[in-house]
Amino acid sequence: MKYLLSLACLATSILAAPAPPQGTFEWTPTLAGYMDVVFQYIQQAKAGGASPTCDLSKAAMPVAPTPLPAPSGLTLEHVALGRGVQNYTCPNATATPAAVGAVARFYNVSCVASDWADLLPIMPNLALQYPLPSDPNAPLEPSNLALSTHHFFSNTTTPVFAFDAPTSPDLGTIFAQKTSSSDAPANAVVGANGQGHGAVGWLYLTSRADTVGDIKAVYRLDTAGGNPPATCQGQPSAFSVDYAAVYWFYK
Ligand SMILES: *[C@@H]1O[C@H](CO)[C@@H](O)[C@H](O)[C@H]1NC(C)=O
Ligand SMILES: *[C@@H]1O[C@H](CO)[C@@H](O)[C@H](O)[C@H]1NC(C)=O
Ligand SMILES: *[C@@H]1O[C@H](CO)[C@@H](O)[C@H](O)[C@H]1NC(C)=O
Ligand SMILES: *[C@@H]1O[C@H](CO)[C@@H](O)[C@H](O)[C@H]1NC(C)=O
Repeated sequence: MKYLLSLACLATSILAAPAPPQGTFEWTPTLAGYMDVVFQYIQQAKAGGASPTCDLSKAAMPVAPTPLPAPSGLTLEHVALGRGVQNYTCPNATATPAAVGAVARFYNVSCVASDWADLLPIMPNLALQYPLPSDPNAPLEPSNLALSTHHFFSNTTTPVFAFDAPTSPDLGTIFAQKTSSSDAPANAVVGANGQGHGAVGWLYLTSRADTVGDIKAVYRLDTAGGNPPATCQGQPSAFSVDYAAVYWFYK
């Protein structure tokens, strides 16, 4: 119940905030849908419904528009809500922005994925409306979701996922490579407050040989925002675009 109220908070305090740093948040169908689902779960919990099991064997990934390879033979270990930036560079005005990496903090949504699966795809859309907490180890405000992972790049083709958060078990450090991708669904949120250049693609990433730990595959799904403008016209030589996504880790 406490957990559900915390999830409800993720939506309600957007409305309560006098002046969100990223602009005014409107009462959207996304937010209404999310609140409907949270309140249904709260009613079920009040009526003595089953308490959450956090049993990841019950969680199922959404299917990408171009289906990604299945994690055959692997076991789901963790599901995280990622919030951060995708970085791009622009050499001149006529070039196309080049992706040079990303930096994000990941928060533990394993229990949401297993027990309240219909909330999961909406969470990146809400998280995109918030800046990250100023305390780097704090939960994802205003929810109570604990920090689990840091995401960054060690070079432009190597996404890294480091389970080095003090609030989370150490599942290792994954040095990954992009193995397969799909465009995000056509109805994906294009950016914060519905303004932006689209949602970054859905990805299937596999571990490189220098990975520490047992994670073999990582999926980036339910993306919101993160795409750059189509051309470098009017862009600085380096810039970042806010994004959020749900990441699934398999061992
Ligand atoms: C702009 O940058 C692109 C990519 O590096 C390069 O191919 C192109 O020649 C550059 N154009 C000009 C006008 O410098
Ligand atoms: C991405 O941009 C952020 C600033 O928005 C910067 O702090 C970070 O170092 C950059 N990371 C990479 C890998 O380019
Ligand atoms: C990037 O890092 C990966 C993993 O550490 C390494 O295998 C790869 O050779 C590096 N690529 C470049 C271009 O440095
Ligand atoms: C995620 O949360 C669950 C439930 O609290 C916990 O059992 C698990 O260890 C956490 N995983 C990570 C990687 O933080």
